[in-house]
Amino acid sequence: MKVGIANDHAAVEMKNEIVKYLASLGYEVINYGTDTNESVDYPVYGEKVANAVADHTVDLGVAICGTGVGIGLACNKVRGIRACTCSEPYSAEYSRRHNNANIITFGARVIGIETAKQIVKVFLETPFEGGRHQRRVDMITDIEKRNEAK
Ligand code: RB5
Repeated sequence: MKVGIANDHAAVEMKNEIVKYLASLGYEVINYGTDTNESVDYPVYGEKVANAVADHTVDLGVAICGTGVGIGLACNKVRGIRACTCSEPYSAEYSRRHNNANIITFGARVIGIETAKQIVKVFLETPFEGGRHQRRVDMITDIEKRNEAK
């Protein structure tokens, strides 16, 4: 499985740890930056990883900023993206099971590296359950389509 990862300046160290961790688990990781501590704008990096997920360059994405919120909001502006901001593994698991999330986001200033690793691992390992959840995810896509037409 190919995983895309992106972050702003608040999350360079956490991103580097997560990249190493994912490699140790056998994932192919594509890094969309940023890679320095120089202040950058999180929407730029959210859009990069979101586009990579949307066009199937990667299968799933990870996006990290200070809170995980800003980069998640940016990701969700790309058509077909369901980015979920999670600070614990249970929500991350159900973001896959029930919501078919395709990007997980979290905050480097909110959670520690061990929690971040647990979140990413469960997110990548958990399948979408489909069934009644597919109908609800389709309803989210319908909202996107109705609003594109405006
Ligand atoms: C950057 O200072 C910070 O605003 C950003 O990392 C993120 O938390 C935004 O949501």
